[in-house]
Amino acid sequence: MHKIDWDLGSAELGDFSHFMEKEIFEQPNALENAMRGRFSEDGSTAHFGGLRMTPQELRQIDRIVLCACGSAWHACLVAETLIEKFARIPVEVEYASEFRYGNAPLDKNTLVFVISQSGETQDTLAALRESKRKGFKTLAICNVVGSTIAREADGGIYQHSGPEIGVASTKAFTSQICIAAMLALYLGRMRDLSYDKGVRFVEALKQLPSQIKDVINQHEKIKSIAHKYINVHNFLFLGRQSLFPIALEGALKLKEVSYIHAEGYPSAEMKHGPIAMINPEFPSFFLATQKTLFQKVVSNMQEIHARKGPVIALISEGLEVPPGIADDIINIPSVHEAVQPILATVVLQLFAYYIALERGCDVDKPRNLAKSVTVE
Ligand code: AGP
Repeated sequence: MHKIDWDLGSAELGDFSHFMEKEIFEQPNALENAMRGRFSEDGSTAHFGGLRMTPQELRQIDRIVLCACGSAWHACLVAETLIEKFARIPVEVEYASEFRYGNAPLDKNTLVFVISQSGETQDTLAALRESKRKGFKTLAICNVVGSTIAREADGGIYQHSGPEIGVASTKAFTSQICIAAMLALYLGRMRDLSYDKGVRFVEALKQLPSQIKDVINQHEKIKSIAHKYINVHNFLFLGRQSLFPIALEGALKLKEVSYIHAEGYPSAEMKHGPIAMINPEFPSFFLATQKTLFQKVVSNMQEIHARKGPVIALISEGLEVPPGIADDIINIPSVHEAVQPILATVVLQLFAYYIALERGCDVDKPRNLAKSVTVE
């Protein structure tokens, strides 16, 4: 038996115009639900009740394979950067549809993790079943209790995001990367991550809901910036390290709700080809929140600006873009590097939502898309 703790009201529109808007604005609460009861008493690590693996078993893991599709695959990329940085475990990210037909040589201490909001995505389910057929330990991060993937994985972590009605993933995605950060913390603290670094990590996670509210409070500013770009035909999203997957997610959000072509790239990669496309009608959205990489990303912005490409810069408070380089600048609070991807995502969700709205698109049910892809 599984208790579904969703009330009917959570599946209704309430005072919002669209489910996508409602679910973007619900993210502070969704992340509180993802974190509730999952921090240790000493406040230096996280823990999960459903992994069904002891710390001793988890310590034996020497490789993690992450499989998913779409936004969940982007969440895997964020998880990869965080787990490798904080837990020092090698991670490989695979498209579920590729993993199931490939034949990756994996050793016995490999853990296969799948991420799926619906828990019914056919390719992700097939990757899970293929892993189990080969005898690997399998875990899942899911939002829907009792879904097929949740039932068939050996263990896992429920997101507790509440029902996500909008086809474009918003609160489920940020909940997945919040859980990924907690997982990196948990695995890191059973290896080399120190107590005081763990405490700082936990404090950063606990402040997230209020910081997301600060970002959402900028929605009018984001809406006015979005208005400038409703008629473009192409967009480039650029970020480095854990913000590169968010560049991919920002591009996907814009594509799926506004039908504007968009691509996500590591910032430095735009010199290796994409810069050839830049012109006054081809804007670039830079995610430049990391202090240590900021100057590098500013030089990338300068290259785009020099070729008359419009530049939008998302930066952390305290950082400063030299005058005349960015056409628009959006600030997020200066936060721990592990949670910057979450705050940056909220900005890009709002950006895509407002552009799609002005273009008259059906933001909750975009053409050609389904909420759960149960076909191969
Ligand atoms: C996200 O905005 C998309 N709707 C889509 O890419 C989705 O993330 C993908 O189909 C995976 O769905 P799942 O998380 O339910 O497995």
